[in-house]
Amino acid sequence: MHWNLTSPADSRRYDPAQVFAAGMEQHAIANTAYPIGHVTTMRPYRITRRQVQAFAPLPWEDISEMGLYVHIPFCEVRCGFCEYAVIDPKQNAAQKDDYFDLLLREFALWGQAIDSRHKTLTGFDIGGGTPSLPDASQIGRVMEAAARHFHLPADVTISIETTPKIAAIDAKKLVAYKAMGIRRISMGVQTVSPCLLEAIGRTATTLEWNRQAVENIRAAGYDNFNVDVMYGFARQNVDSVEATLRHVIALAPEHITLYQMRYKGTRIAHQAAGITWAQIGEQAKLAKQMLAEAGYWAAPGKNTFSRIPGDLGTSDYLTNRVVYATPYLGIGLGAQSLSHTSLSYNSGAADKEMRLYRRHVEADELPIQDIYHLSREAAMGKFVAVAFYFGGIHLPSFQAKFGCGLESAFPDAVHFVLERGLMAYDGETLQLTAAGVEAKPGVHALFYAPAVQEHLIKLCRGEQVRPRSGWRRVWQAEWAAVHQTSSVAVTNPLPRDMPPCAGRG
Ligand SMILES: C[S@@+](CC[C@H](N)C(=O)[O-])C[C@H]1O[C@@H](n2cnc3c(N)ncnc32)[C@H](O)[C@@H]1O
Ligand code: SF4
Repeated sequence: MHWNLTSPADSRRYDPAQVFAAGMEQHAIANTAYPIGHVTTMRPYRITRRQVQAFAPLPWEDISEMGLYVHIPFCEVRCGFCEYAVIDPKQNAAQKDDYFDLLLREFALWGQAIDSRHKTLTGFDIGGGTPSLPDASQIGRVMEAAARHFHLPADVTISIETTPKIAAIDAKKLVAYKAMGIRRISMGVQTVSPCLLEAIGRTATTLEWNRQAVENIRAAGYDNFNVDVMYGFARQNVDSVEATLRHVIALAPEHITLYQMRYKGTRIAHQAAGITWAQIGEQAKLAKQMLAEAGYWAAPGKNTFSRIPGDLGTSDYLTNRVVYATPYLGIGLGAQSLSHTSLSYNSGAADKEMRLYRRHVEADELPIQDIYHLSREAAMGKFVAVAFYFGGIHLPSFQAKFGCGLESAFPDAVHFVLERGLMAYDGETLQLTAAGVEAKPGVHALFYAPAVQEHLIKLCRGEQVRPRSGWRRVWQAEWAAVHQTSSVAVTNPLPRDMPPCAGRG
């Protein structure tokens, strides 16, 4: 499938210095969670509700290799800081078993829609939420469905997430996952500071559970084990980061992932203003220094550190998604999917409720909340935002995906980052430097699509960023001007002979 036409807002160009400054000022949202401000920045690419079911399978037609993500939206407690689609735990008992029936139906719907038996999986993650909360037999059903509906090679490392509490008190589940073929476990410790745990709403955790969890994970035979740690909380200080890292390093996982707190859309979003970019930087610096001293390594800007030489530490699903831009399909409540030309979110992504997801699946419809047919500019913005998970852009992947080099697509941005020493070439990758890591939000913003850059600039000016009434008329006139046509079809594919990449900032 071809790219969508470029929206007028994505045809504009902004001064890189202004964009960089806007990214730095909006550091709480200028990160890899992209795009930003869907209502305004993505609306031109949104497929109308009436067309969603017919459109959704089309972007997958010419894709033979892909990643699979299955979302399990249950947790014992919904932590205040969590950004993921997790349903109210009070509904767990009523929804849990039923949800897996719905998931299996969604597998079958996609199977039919995209002929998934002929798609080869290059990675498969089961995430959440807390996928280890339901009975292990339910995860067994998910594993069977994946193997039934997709071509799942035996050498793909399948990964699952757990909390320390469940891994500590339910060792049998870990053994059952191993028997099913799951080879990687990821566990969230986040922080060990009691006051902070209280402030961020994660009280069901103890140091003893963390240690017991590791004992059980090792006894079950896992040698690919990751621990998540968080920093950048408003009520966190460097001492708490130090104590957490000391504890986690002593647990000796193969991999440690540092998550910088992203406040957008969380229940503690109001705390975002309580920490400065400089304080966040100080915490990150300390954490990375401690990891380096303990033998954990990551490329600059990458947040998963590994002590295993030659092993990046991330799951096959994430590595392929980030480095090679492999398309991924998300199944389950609120899951995100990205093909080469489309981006979609399942029902529940916004409201974290099961109602619409259930209604769609029970009506034999793909449970899609929003789907966007991306222009090349919009797809490039998403590609680079995802690439920054690992702190760098793999140039051959960009070339293969967009038919042009990064430098010709983003001449001003590349010139800006090289001239200021924010990024540097490292083999086939344009990688953040130490200076670039400290200015990450600004660098991220340089590669956003122009509509998203405009959104950030407007936020800095305190301008209204939601479309006013009459937006459709205004946009239609703009589209007509940009594409020199009187009729506006925002999801028209471009002809096969696409124009070469135009330079952009
Ligand atoms: C889906 S959670 C699963 C882990 C598991 N449920 C747990 O809490 O132990 C994956 C990781 O995302 C990170 N995370 C959650 N909310 C976040 C946020 N708002 N910003 C940045 N990272 C976040 C946490 O480190 C968490 O361990
Ligand atoms: S951090 Fe983990 S346990 Fe807490 S709500 Fe999010 S997914 Fe659930």
